[in-house]
Amino acid sequence: MKKIIVAIDGYSSCGKSTMAKALAKEVGYAYIDTGAMYRAVALFAKRLGFLTEQKIDEERLKKALTDIEISFRLNKDGVSETFLGEEKVEKMIRNMEMASGASRVSELKFVRQVLVAQQQAMGIEKGIVMDGRDIGTVVFPQAELKIFVTATPEIRAKRRYEELVAKGESVVFEEVLQGTIERDYRDTHRVESPLVQAADALILDNSEMSLAEQQEWLKNRFFEVCNE
Ligand code: DC
Repeated sequence: MKKIIVAIDGYSSCGKSTMAKALAKEVGYAYIDTGAMYRAVALFAKRLGFLTEQKIDEERLKKALTDIEISFRLNKDGVSETFLGEEKVEKMIRNMEMASGASRVSELKFVRQVLVAQQQAMGIEKGIVMDGRDIGTVVFPQAELKIFVTATPEIRAKRRYEELVAKGESVVFEEVLQGTIERDYRDTHRVESPLVQAADALILDNSEMSLAEQQEWLKNRFFEVCNE
């Protein structure tokens, strides 16, 4: 069976990473969550004082980025976790503050250049499932299988809200919905690599689908391409 690159793009909180992770595990591919890389940059920038609510100190962030080391390591349960240098930052990047920070740093061309180069290096041997916003358009335009995932903002906000509540965060649904709409706007309207569907991507609207149905759908597409 041939080894391929699976590129999964789409709006925030549409279940891309859950699907991508499940497929990677099932077929023995590496899984890369590129959103986590932008979140790690946001955390890195915030800690250095280069990212505040008011502004981003682009000059200093650009210099500091030459030293950034983002990696993914499997924990003892086989789950991929994000590291900044030697520090596990998986939990720290999964909140609304880092989601918004990631959305802001992801608008910067130099940030995208650094991360895209790292992502391309990770896929050099194929056998990878990568999710994000620009994977099928910029990172791997040659990917053999491209999926563009979408669902209504209300459904995505509900999923994100339930996730955050389950993690013990105190959140208000309307604020999560507002955050989702604002991120959609920023992701699709930024100058650098806005979120767009690649011309050759398959669309998956999962508003009315269960997780099991989505995973089955993705697995079928994967084997169709691998067995071509
Ligand atoms: O998928 P996520 O919510 O973890 O992504 C966080 C932010 O990073 C999101 O607002 C868009 C940005 N992002 C991006 O611009 N390009 C990617 N390939 C992945 C994420």
